[in-house]
Amino acid sequence: MKAVILAGGSGTRLSPFTKIINKHLLPVGSYPMIYWPIKRLKQAGINEILIVTNEEDLVSFKKVLGAGEELGVILSYTIQKEKGKGIANALNCAKDFVDDKFVVLLGDNLFDDDLSPYLEDFKKEKYEAKVLLKEVKDPKRYGIAFIDEIKHTIISIIEKPKNPISKYCVTGIYFYDRNVFGLIQSLSPSKRGELEITDLNNLYINRNELNYDILKGWWLDAGTHEALFEANKHFFEGE
Ligand code: TTP
Repeated sequence: MKAVILAGGSGTRLSPFTKIINKHLLPVGSYPMIYWPIKRLKQAGINEILIVTNEEDLVSFKKVLGAGEELGVILSYTIQKEKGKGIANALNCAKDFVDDKFVVLLGDNLFDDDLSPYLEDFKKEKYEAKVLLKEVKDPKRYGIAFIDEIKHTIISIIEKPKNPISKYCVTGIYFYDRNVFGLIQSLSPSKRGELEITDLNNLYINRNELNYDILKGWWLDAGTHEALFEANKHFFEGE
């Protein structure tokens, strides 16, 4: 199985650092942030990884990670031409890279779980897509999945709900097959002008094709100054 790491975007919440450096190259522990999701993929036996990033950041990524020799993986790169046009827009850039079933990670999502069991399950499942959820204390900040635990189904995903009735956020760990590119074509930009991953995942829900699992270990979206500090604490303590 191949994997795609999305590492474009604007990183405005980590300004002013992101005025000069891509968010995913900021330090977390002793390494650039993106090192950690690559490490998780390698641990799960995934060696072929595509990094999607912005044109102006490509040189920096190549300087730091090269073709993946030091990390023991095979890295390739592609550019998201329309910078910041959304996670689903970035994912669409992986069309020529993937075969059938593949993994997508948001490059600012850091986690301790080994991906292997989720990946093995997804290979066997009949579903076209799967998301990993994590229970969070502050559900108003995330895309929240309303689930029926008895039937093991996701009923809907709501972005930053005002009155959340679930604490399960949709993490930036997704599993899709090639059908995803057809579905992305049918998306329209949201009010903020982005192709939204939540809209994409809701399309799968409407077709009864979205499965889920719940992450067991530590997980963090390192996209804010506070979260980046938390991530550093976690990895320095862990190292
Ligand atoms: P976000 O954190 O939602 O967006 P951002 O990275 O632009 O940051 P900010 O909101 O502070 O401006 O992005 C989540 C992940 O998705 C992140 O790892 C970068 C990636 N991404 C892309 O690759 N392309 C995009 O167009 C967007 C919006 C995000």
